[in-house]
This record gives sequence, structure tokens and C-alpha cells, in this order.
Amino acid sequence: MVTGAEDVSAAWGRKFRPLLASLGVTGKVGEIVKLPTAGLVKTPMVVLVGLGSEPDDNALRRAAGAASRAVTNAASVALALGAQDAAGVRAVTEGWLLGGYTYTEHKSQTAADPTEPSEVVVLSSGARQPELVAAFEAAQVLAAAVATTRDWVNRPPGDLTPPKFADAVTEAHGAFTKAQPRRGGAKVAITVHDEQQLAELGCGGILGVGQGSVAPPRLVELTYAPKGAVAHLALVGKGITFDSGGLTIKPAQSMGTMKCDMAGAATVIQATFAIAALGLPIKVSTFAPMAENMVSGNSIRPGDVLTAANGKTVEVLNTDAEGRLVLMDALVRAAALEPDVILDVATLTGAMVVALGEKIAGVMGSDEVVEGVLAAGTSAGEALWPMPIPEEMRERITSSKIADLAQHDWTRWGGGLFAAAFLREFTDSRPWAHIDVAGPAYNNGGPAGHVTSGGTGFAVSTLVDYARSLAATS
Ligand code: BES
Ligand code: MN
Ligand code: ZN
Repeated sequence: MVTGAEDVSAAWGRKFRPLLASLGVTGKVGEIVKLPTAGLVKTPMVVLVGLGSEPDDNALRRAAGAASRAVTNAASVALALGAQDAAGVRAVTEGWLLGGYTYTEHKSQTAADPTEPSEVVVLSSGARQPELVAAFEAAQVLAAAVATTRDWVNRPPGDLTPPKFADAVTEAHGAFTKAQPRRGGAKVAITVHDEQQLAELGCGGILGVGQGSVAPPRLVELTYAPKGAVAHLALVGKGITFDSGGLTIKPAQSMGTMKCDMAGAATVIQATFAIAALGLPIKVSTFAPMAENMVSGNSIRPGDVLTAANGKTVEVLNTDAEGRLVLMDALVRAAALEPDVILDVATLTGAMVVALGEKIAGVMGSDEVVEGVLAAGTSAGEALWPMPIPEEMRERITSSKIADLAQHDWTRWGGGLFAAAFLREFTDSRPWAHIDVAGPAYNNGGPAGHVTSGGTGFAVSTLVDYARSLAATS
């Protein structure tokens, strides 16, 4: 039992343990047992959540998430989960808010809709310490950013074409700007490039991928430049609003969840708003290329050559490897600003899912940046794993007979690493890491802990923690 829950067990006294035993309570992670109190304590109901044998902050986050779904129809809730320090308060708060997330934009209201409690209290022995109060508030900012990321990923792809996605970001930006004077922080600037402007900028990759769709592509750019910024971080996120594969069409089964292919863009945009809301003293420049990868008489063909924003030519050999084509233009524009670090987030390859499974993201790039991203993932409670970019990939990405680079080859192995090697060509040798979230961005299964079904918002938290550490060490 964690610190903070003693009073509850004390109310039952010596009968508590036998009671739990007869209920078959084991305390394993994710276990939920509801205990009517019959007046023994003030609340009519106690919900017990399993934390496992050695609860760390991630166990707290998961337990709070599971509890959030288990509590229905309560007017007020107190969380006695042993949040004793700032990291604990953060974990419990995030866990509760994220575990209770639901996507309801297309559900008709029914009487059975669970009602939200009007008050949720996180119990902590250090409740008045400024550090804990700050952690509590920051966790709410983070959870809101993750929830909007999930909303965007979950939204049907026809309702989130590139122009509609750009409009949604513009709207979110407006709401953020309205709230920001109250927060006292620096504003975020937004630019939306339409297809004409993309042509002027020479973004042949974004235009090429987008040309098969009736909904034209967009490039959304955000800038957060607070006074006294100590470092400059560039974020780039893949925004394919639907990935049919194009003429290299996907099998039906793989296409079913391809509305999730804009998760990287949603993630970097929401991370930017969170970093700005937290007032972190770093400059952030964010690039979200948006296109719909469709089949039509105007689609790009295998064999076509596209020219990236830096003039490099790329032979398209598989229209389903479209992510790298929109990212190349965005990376060129990011690198041109000469930031200290570039991070890109993308649902890029099925190969990474084969390698690491559905819950772990692969990280590739400059050693120092990769290390920083892994450390940020640890503090954020997100699972990331380093992957190499082997030397032999250079030969593969330069194997085109007619263009500077080959976008794809038909060698079956190492597809995630090939993609990373390709992206690296557009980073101008700046410190950079690529985060392939093809597995963890979308949960095909049921809810588990604080991770709900569908869009997960994976990597928002890691990016914000990376920005925190950049601010602290620069
Ligand atoms: N969007 C997919 C990758 C993906 C797969 C995301 C599964 C989420 C879950 C990407 O555009 C893609 O189709 N990649 C191809 C690359 C291949 C053609 C080199 C793949 O992984 O099959
Ligand atoms: Mn694809
Ligand atoms: Zn894709």
C-alpha cells in the first residue's frame, strides 16, 4: 500500500486484509476493485487500483488512468495514490486525465453517458510546496495537449483533409493566443502555406504526394520565440491525413487505420503549444507538412522524379513510402533556420513496428540527440528504443540511376533504417533525431492504463520533456 492510503485501511482496521483476501485482490498492475464503504469512511465508495510490487511513477500513471475509467457517476474524487513528490503528482494527474479520455465527436448523446466528476483532488503530503503545485499545473497543460492530439488522430480522415487540418490548427492557435495574455507568456506565430505557396517554396515532395487528392496539401509552420531563449529547437511532424498507399496501393487491412498517419504533425503542433503554455525559455520552430496520399489519374507514379526544397532530386519507386517525401521538404526548411536541434516525429514505417512492436518508438540520428530523446522518454514515461543507421544504407539511398536519391528499394530488410538514412540527407548535418512512432501512435486494442483506444498522443510528453532538458542544460 502506498503512502496516503493508510487512513482508508485504518477505517476497516484488522478486517481490511482478510476482506481484500476474500475479494481475491492481488494488487497486480491494472487491477481494479470497488469497495462500498457502508459509512466506514466518508466516501460511499473506495476504488482500489493495483500498483504491482514496486510502484514507480509509470505504475502510478497507469493506475490513475485505469481508476479514471473505473469511477463512474461520482461528484467528487480524491486520488490517494502516493503522489509524494513532483514526479508523482505529475504521473497521477496525467494518468487520471488521459485514462479518462474519450473521443465523442461522432457519438450521439445517450442517457448512459458517464458524468464527469466536478472535482478531482490529488492527495499529497507535500501539497503546498510550489514545486508540486507547478507539477500539478504542468500535468494539466500536458494532458490537454495529448487529448487534442488524440482528437485529431481519431477524427475521420474525410473530416481532416489537409485544408481542414490546417484550419483546425489555426483555430487551436487562435484559442491559445486568446488564453496566453492571461498566462503572461510569449505568443506563437502561425503560417499556413497553400499549394501555390508550396510551389513558390519549391516543396516538390509535399506537392507530389498531395497531387492525387482533390484536397490540396498544406504546410503549417509555428514559431514560439520567447525573450531570452537559451536554445533553438526545430520540430517536424508527418501529416499524411490519409495514407491509401497511392498507386502502390495498400492491402485493405493495412489501410483501415491510416487516418493515424498525421499523428506526427498533431504531436509536434500540440507539443509546441504545450512548451509555449509552460513558458519554457527555448525558441521552437515547428513544421507540419500535410498531404493526402490518394489514388487518381493525377497521382504520382512509381518512376516519377520529385525535387525537394533544397534542389535534390528524388526518384519515387514506391508511392506508399510517401512520408519521407513530405518530410524532406519540411526538414530542409527546418535546417535552413540553423536550429541547435531538429527532432522529427513520424508514423513512418511498418518495418519499425515489426522490429519493436506496437508500443515502442524507434529513435535514430545523431548520438547526442538520440540519447537526449531517450532520457526525455524515460522521464515522460514513454517507451523509445535506439536504432542504428548502418553505413550500407548510403549505398541503398543513392542507388537511383536517374536522380540524386532513391526514395525506396525493394530490398525487404531494414526499411525503418533506410527511411532514417533518407531523411538524414535533408538535415544539413545538423544535430537531429528521427522518432518513428508507427507502432505507438495508434492503439488498435482496448484501453490500458492511461493509454486509451485509437490515437494515443504518443511523444507529446517526450518532446516537452526534451524541451525542458534543453532549457535546463543550455
Ligand atoms: N504510414 C505508413 C507506415 C505505417 C505502417 C504507419 C503501420 C502506421 C502503421 C507508411 O507511409 C508506409 O506505408 N510505409 C511503408 C514503407 C515501405 C513502402 C518502404 C511500409 O512500412 O510498408
Ligand atoms: Mn505509406
Ligand atoms: Zn504513411
